[in-house]
Amino acid sequence: MTTWSTTDIHDLTGRTAVVTGANSGIGRAAARALAGAGARVVLAVRDTAKGRDAAATMPGATEVRALDLASLASVREFAAGWEGDLDLLINNAGVMATPFARTADGFELQFGTNHLGHFALTNLLLQHVTGRVVTVSSTAHRVGRIDLDDLNWEHKPYRTWRAYGQSKLANLLFTAELQRRLTAVGSPVLATAAHPGYAATNLQFHSGRRALDIGSWVANRLIAQDEDGGALPTLYAATADIPGDSFAGPGGFMEQRGAPKLVGRTEAARDTAVARRLWDASEELTGARFPLSAAAAA
Ligand SMILES: NC(=O)c1ccc[n+]([C@@H]2O[C@H](COP(=O)([O-])OP(=O)(O)OC[C@H]3O[C@@H](n4cnc5c(N)ncnc54)[C@H](OP(=O)(O)O)[C@@H]3O)[C@@H](O)[C@H]2O)c1
Repeated sequence: MTTWSTTDIHDLTGRTAVVTGANSGIGRAAARALAGAGARVVLAVRDTAKGRDAAATMPGATEVRALDLASLASVREFAAGWEGDLDLLINNAGVMATPFARTADGFELQFGTNHLGHFALTNLLLQHVTGRVVTVSSTAHRVGRIDLDDLNWEHKPYRTWRAYGQSKLANLLFTAELQRRLTAVGSPVLATAAHPGYAATNLQFHSGRRALDIGSWVANRLIAQDEDGGALPTLYAATADIPGDSFAGPGGFMEQRGAPKLVGRTEAARDTAVARRLWDASEELTGARFPLSAAAAA
C-alpha cells in the first residue's frame, strides 16, 4: 500500500512554480504544499482578490497574477510577462458540467478552459520550463470522446458531462503528446498528469441545477476527501521520481481517495494518433505552437 504524503516532497527552495486556479480547492492545497516545501509559488487566478485571500493562508513566498484561461488574450499576457526559469507548471484550473457557454474566443467553455487554455499557456511558457508540466485530469476522462470534427460543440446538441469528459481526456492526450515532443527534441522537461479522485471543492457547483447542487453538497460531506487529500496526486506527479507521461491518482477505494500512486488510463487516452491530431487542432485553434527544436533544447 502506498503511503506517500506531503512530507515526501523534497526541498524546493530556489524553485518556482505556477499553479493555475490556485485560489480554490485542489489548486489552493497544492500551492500551499509547494510553498511549504520552499518553492516560490505564483498563484495564476482569474480573480486576483480571491487569489490574495488564498495566498494569505500560505507559508513562504507567494505571488498572485491574473490569468483567465477562457481568454487567449489573458493567457498571452500572462505568458508574455514571465521572466526567468519556471520549474513547475501545474495546469490545475477547471470547470465542470457548466451550462452551454463559450469562451472569449468562441470555444466551448469546458474544452476551452480545461484544455485549450492550458494548451496555449504551456506552449507559450515552455521555453522557460526547466522541470515539469503537470496537468490535472479526472476519472471522467473515461467517459470522454474526442470529436475531432466538432471539438467545440458547433454541430451537435450540447451534452455537459460529455463536454467535461472530452476536456479531461484531452488533458491526458495533451500530456502524452507533449512528452513525446519533449523527448523527440531531447528536452529533459517531463510532462505528467494527475487526477484527484473525488474531493470536496467548488467544482461540483457550476451546473446551475439546484438538485445537483444539493446532491453534491451531501456527497461532498459524506464521501469526498478534503482538498488536501485531492491535491496529493498533483504533488506526486510534480515531485516524485516518476517517468514522463505518468498518470497519478489516489491509491485507495476505486481511485477516489487515499495516498497517490501511478494509475491506469483508458485505451482512448493512449491513442497516439488522436493525440497528434488533437495537438494539431489545438495549435490551429489557439495559434500557440510547440516552441522547442532539437537544437534549442540541447
Ligand atoms: N474535485 C474533484 O473531485 C475533482 C475530480 C476530478 C478532477 N478534478 C479537477 O481538479 C481541478 C481543480 O478543481 P477543484 O476540484 O479544485 O475545483 P475548484 O475548487 O472549483 O477550483 C477550480 C479552480 O479553477 C479556476 N478556474 C475556473 N475557470 C477558470 C478560468 N477561466 N481561468 C482561470 N482559472 C479558472 C477557479 O477559479 P474561481 O475560483 O475564480 O472560479 C478555481 O480556482 C480541475 O481541473 C478539475 O477538473 C477535480
